[in-house]
Amino acid sequence: MELIIDGKTCKANPGDSILNVARREGIAIPTLCYHEAFGGQGSCRLCTVEVTAGGRSRLVASCTYPVSEGIEVKTSTPAVEKIRRNIIMMLYKRASGSVLMQKLYREYGCSENSLGEKEEERCIVCRLCVLACEKMGTSAISTVMRGIDKRVGTPYDQAATACIGCAACAHICPTGAIEVLDSGNTRTIWNKNFNLINCERCGQPFATREQIDHVSRLSGIEDAELCFCEECRRKKLVGKMQGFSPC
Ligand code: SF4
Ligand code: FES
Repeated sequence: MELIIDGKTCKANPGDSILNVARREGIAIPTLCYHEAFGGQGSCRLCTVEVTAGGRSRLVASCTYPVSEGIEVKTSTPAVEKIRRNIIMMLYKRASGSVLMQKLYREYGCSENSLGEKEEERCIVCRLCVLACEKMGTSAISTVMRGIDKRVGTPYDQAATACIGCAACAHICPTGAIEVLDSGNTRTIWNKNFNLINCERCGQPFATREQIDHVSRLSGIEDAELCFCEECRRKKLVGKMQGFSPC
C-alpha cells in the first residue's frame, strides 16, 4: 500500500506503523518511549504527527498508528510542534536531572524561566527498562505508584530475588536514570550486589554469575561458551570466520 509522508509517496506493508515507514524512508520523527526491540508504546506522545484521512485531520502517535492506503502524514506542523514542545516542558519538569531532557528542553526553545521541579530526577517513566527486564525473562522491576509519583522500582524497593544484575535496564534507558556501579568485581544495581566474573580471554570483569546462568538456562548454550565479554566474543567469531575463509 502507499501513503504520503511530508509530500513523499512511501510504500508500506500491512501492520507497519507510520514511524516504521518514516524511518525506512529516512524521515525523522522524534521518539522517547519507542525502541525497535519492542515497537511502539504510545506513552510519551513525542512522536505525534498529523494524519489526514477521508478529509479529516487529527494528531496521532506515529509509533502505534497503523498505516492505511492513501493517508497523508505531516511530521511537522505548528500543532505538532506545539504538542511536542509541551511534552518536552512537562517531561523536563519531571526529570530535569537528565542530560537528554536538558538538551531537548533547549532544542525546543522552552522557556528558560520554567525550572524543573525534580532537579535530581532523571526518569521520564518511558517503561523501556521494564520492557527490557521482561524480555530478559526476569521481570524484576515494574512501575509503581500513580500519577506524578509514578516511578520504576523493585518490589517494596528491596533487592529483588528475580534480578540477575544484567543491567539491560540501564543500557536501554534513554535518560541514564538507572544507577549501575561496577567497582572491581562487584556490581551494584537496584539495591543488590553481584559478583562479576572475568572474561576467559581478556580477564576483564564483564557479567554476573546469575546473568550467565540465566542466559545458559534459556538458550541451552553451555556456560563455558558464554564466559567471554562482547569484544572477545566478536574477536573469537572473526577468528573462526578467518579460519574458514577460502582465501
Ligand atoms: S528508568 Fe529510564 S528506561 Fe526506565 S522508565 Fe525511567 S527513563 Fe525509562
Ligand atoms: S515514541 Fe511514540 S509515544 Fe513515545
